Amino acid sequence: MSSKRKAPAARVTPARELVALRARVSETEQTLRAIRNGEVDTVLVTGKQGSQIFTLNGAVHTYRLLIETMNEGALTLASDYTILYANQCFARLVNTPLEQVTGTSFLRFLSAADFSALRTLLKRKVQAGRKIQVELIPANAATVPAQISIHRLVEPGSALVTLGMVVTDMTEARRNEERLRALANHLTQLQEAERGSVALDLHDNITQTLCAVLYRSQTLAESLAGPAGPSQAAATELRELISRTSTDVERISRNLRPGVLEHLGLAAALEAACKEFSRRSGIPHRLTCGPLGARLSVEAELVLYRILLAALQNVERHARASHVTVRLSGSTSGIRLSIQDDGVGFDHEPRSLGRRGIIDLGLLGMRERAKHVGGTFLLQTAPRAGTKIVIRIPFPPEPSPTV
Ligand SMILES: Nc1ncnc2c1ncn2[C@@H]1O[C@H](COP(=O)(O)OP(=O)(O)OP(=O)(O)O)[C@@H](O)[C@H]1O
Ligand SMILES: [Mg+2]
Repeated sequence: MSSKRKAPAARVTPARELVALRARVSETEQTLRAIRNGEVDTVLVTGKQGSQIFTLNGAVHTYRLLIETMNEGALTLASDYTILYANQCFARLVNTPLEQVTGTSFLRFLSAADFSALRTLLKRKVQAGRKIQVELIPANAATVPAQISIHRLVEPGSALVTLGMVVTDMTEARRNEERLRALANHLTQLQEAERGSVALDLHDNITQTLCAVLYRSQTLAESLAGPAGPSQAAATELRELISRTSTDVERISRNLRPGVLEHLGLAAALEAACKEFSRRSGIPHRLTCGPLGARLSVEAELVLYRILLAALQNVERHARASHVTVRLSGSTSGIRLSIQDDGVGFDHEPRSLGRRGIIDLGLLGMRERAKHVGGTFLLQTAPRAGTKIVIRIPFPPEPSPTV
């Protein structure tokens, strides 16, 4: 009977260790050789947990070719924002040689405000890609508007988290946006001028004629003496019809060029618009007007009036609100108008595409109109939390005394 004697553990362990050690030495030799030959990119990051080496090798190398040919900047960052990898396009964007980009902090290319916005975004447990607009600060060159799309990269079997970023140069997009903005402002001005001339035409021709017809129909109804017969009833009906048409034409004309704005002022114009809104929609409103101090320019008052109309139209069409509050107040610096409803609210992302697949022009128009007269537009909304719009427009500067 043969019996195999078990080798004592003390004799096996060193042999196994030796094999393992040889394997590690060989692996290290291969890595070092690859580093020397430029086949592997390495970055040494010294942090609280000591030094860590990040490498890019093997199959990952093919991805590098793809990323190098991209027209967008691509980066991976360590958790302390050290750039582990950057492509040539990013190096060009920040006007810095690639060797000087890799291994440095990404923060050197951001302003303090943009960095703080980035950090806030990252604190929000970003799972999917998130986007943020920043101004990149290149070396010795003007800032570059850019969009950064951020992804958390977790390597399988590793607790190490790196950040992946795709950086898109938005210079051309911003330029187009500016062009669109200028065009929109121009169109708004043309529209106001056109509205003014149609309102004048209505007033000078149709309203005057309607008044004359109304007067004659009144006289006709009275002259049909005798007991109320069919012809008198028909004449009375005709007079009422003309009277209603005349009121409608006056309302259209007022909307086209709100004379009440010029003659009675902003508060009266807003009051008329709110009353008309509640009458039309059945949604009650509360309007409070504090002392305004001074008057804005005609153009700025018209902007506030038009924004109120558009905001009330949105309440009527989308909010399913049971009440609207409109507040107009003045301060030493300017006028503030807020429109708040208690309706369904909505999920609003600035610059996002609306449900119809285009940028929402109503809200965009309000923002642009306010901006055009030096004001600001603020939208506060969330699903089931109602919607509030706040517009602030500064008073025009006092004319400097002439000597
Ligand atoms: N007060 C509100 N309550 C709820 N949803 C609103 C409100 N205001 C706007 N919205 C939502 O925002 C979207 C964009 O509004 P916006 O005024 O820009 O466009 P619109 O009203 O759809 O079209 P238009 O260009 O004719 O104004 C609306 O379609 C609606 O979904
Ligand atoms: Mg709208």
